[in-house]
Amino acid sequence: MKLLLVGGGGREHALAWKFKHDDPAVTLIAAPGNPGMAELAECVPVTATDVGRLVELALERRVDLVVVGPEAPLAAGLVDRLREAGVPAFGPTQAAAEIETSKAFAKQLMLDAGVPTAQARVFTSVLEAKECAREFGAPVVIKASGLAAGKGVIVCETLAQADEAIESMLVGNAFGESGHEVLVEEFMEGEEVSVLALADGTRVLSLVPAQDHKRLLAGDRGPNTGGMGAYAPVSLGARLGQVSRDNTALLREVETRVLLPTLRAMRDRGRPFTGLLYAGLMITADGPKVVEFNCRFGDPETQAVLPVAQMDPPLATVMLAIARGEGIPAGARCHTQGYAVTTVLAAAGYPGTPHAGDPIELPAPRADALVFHAGTRRDDDGVLRTAGGRVLAVTGLGATFAGAQRASADAASHVRFAGKQFRDDIGWRERARGA
Ligand code: AMP
Ligand code: GLY
Repeated sequence: MKLLLVGGGGREHALAWKFKHDDPAVTLIAAPGNPGMAELAECVPVTATDVGRLVELALERRVDLVVVGPEAPLAAGLVDRLREAGVPAFGPTQAAAEIETSKAFAKQLMLDAGVPTAQARVFTSVLEAKECAREFGAPVVIKASGLAAGKGVIVCETLAQADEAIESMLVGNAFGESGHEVLVEEFMEGEEVSVLALADGTRVLSLVPAQDHKRLLAGDRGPNTGGMGAYAPVSLGARLGQVSRDNTALLREVETRVLLPTLRAMRDRGRPFTGLLYAGLMITADGPKVVEFNCRFGDPETQAVLPVAQMDPPLATVMLAIARGEGIPAGARCHTQGYAVTTVLAAAGYPGTPHAGDPIELPAPRADALVFHAGTRRDDDGVLRTAGGRVLAVTGLGATFAGAQRASADAASHVRFAGKQFRDDIGWRERARGA
């Protein structure tokens, strides 16, 4: 199979690793890729949002399948253009991608479909938004409606904080256009889980559930980021406080109450969703409720999920069948093998303006760790340097959770670059559950 992978982050590196791991004979082209992916794929210097060039590239190289990693090209209509050109593409159309790109659209969809989620209202007026925050009471959550790289959400402990957040978005332009419409949302109590599911418009194949660590600092303190680490599988049951080594019941509940009704509502709106549907869930006392949907693989969840996901048939085969409109192959399954803990190494300054250009020293290769590149570049002098907020993601693998956690923390501590930031407590909730 010849495959074009669009993107150049840690998630795309993990996808490239999975495709090669499943089938060493696969031919991979990455646009633009990154220095880590260059060991697995031919990297072509076309940016992930250059829709016209990407379509030309797919046609020139006669690829069998295009897999789109990030949300920006999906929001720009890359899949629509590829389909028009007759190229099978894995990912949602621009209209279906709105499930991520507009939180207001996603909320209304959930409301109409009866999908459990927090109560929320949309505002462009500061005064009305503040009134709503008072009606819900603190703690309350203020969100920029558009894309903000995972950073446009402020969980406010007090109404004064909520007022400040509303003003910063609607008046202070804190998130640009994305924040000119805000959601005021009821706070949900519980633990978070990310379920990544391959979707063919009607049916889903759920992968191993994962847990992300969105806060910058150990103990889940500090500002929200794009994600500082993740682990999979998660031994949570379908209710707050339940522990379960077997995720079957949790996944079935998420499929029945969340994923399948969402696909139905998307079909009803004439925007069938095919691709990867990511449900960010809060496991509350009343069961799973949706925090957000994403229209693509999670980052860094993918770097933890794919190494432990044993799929039959392999991932690329299922993606190709979905992209061709054949649907998820009958009997397709995903099992879990072992444990994975992913530690993100971020540059100095992240999640603000990251410092670029610092030389990176990687740890010696080891069997129990995978190093995925994200914000790195290799200069003409051959030196690997930092070139983004999240620089690397180190996934530790193990037959036990504790083993995977040790491998991840140890390998992460052996990566060197100036100002390196990382959390050494990824998976702490899982340990607290007795893993
Ligand atoms: P989002 O970008 O919508 O996933 O939100 C980022 C983070 O903010 C989530 O992962 C949660 O930790 C938190 N969050 C968002 N919405 C809520 C909510 N309604 N209740 C509690 N926490 C929330
Ligand atoms: N890790 C959260 C996301 O990919 O949006």
